[in-house]
Amino acid sequence: MITLALPKGRIFDEALPLLGRAGIVPAEPPESTRRLIIGTSIPDLRIVVVRASDVPTYVQYGAADLGIAGADILMEHGGGGLYQPLDLGIGICRLCVAAPAGFDYAEAVRRGARLRIATKYVQAARDFFAGKGVHVDLIKLYGSMELAPLAGLADAIVDLVSSGATLRANDLLEVEQIAPISSRLVVNQAAFKMRHERMAAVVDALARAVPA
Ligand code: PRP
Repeated sequence: MITLALPKGRIFDEALPLLGRAGIVPAEPPESTRRLIIGTSIPDLRIVVVRASDVPTYVQYGAADLGIAGADILMEHGGGGLYQPLDLGIGICRLCVAAPAGFDYAEAVRRGARLRIATKYVQAARDFFAGKGVHVDLIKLYGSMELAPLAGLADAIVDLVSSGATLRANDLLEVEQIAPISSRLVVNQAAFKMRHERMAAVVDALARAVPA
């Protein structure tokens, strides 16, 4: 049996058509079932549905043989024990620094101010600001980062931006881009070695399903 870990939420909806093009069709509609292990049209391949941030963990420990994870999630996880053979071209967005329109971010950086940054992406934020030589206090949040500057919790945030609608609705401006983000196929290294032929066939099918 091959187990594929899929993240709940937005990437999931984009992943289903991609899987379909690779001939992998869930045996029951994943959006309506509460079941977390779902069979597929391929008898030896099943899907497990997990939180996006848990996908690398399932694959790293071999509880799933492969999975779909955003580059943002992989930056935080570190990617140990994982092959990343494919950019799947889905879940496209960017990791950014955003601040209220009234906060002069560039000036604060220029004069070497110590910035308070709220984010779910602590590792990526730490690496980014360290690379720029900017001193930051990082405040870990688990969601609704956009609220933090409005509520006085932070000067700025590090978050994903897709359409930009969430920033606009909260009077925040994108002041710096950290990294472009898309979803990657991640594969357990040991599984890929030990069951190479079967695993490579699945990876190849997915590679052919990625839009050019
Ligand atoms: C992400 C991100 C922003 C929003 C950006 O949250 O954290 O809040 O999407 O999208 P936009 O630029 O198109 O408005 P998501 O909906 O993935 O939920 P999350 O807060 O659980 O990460």
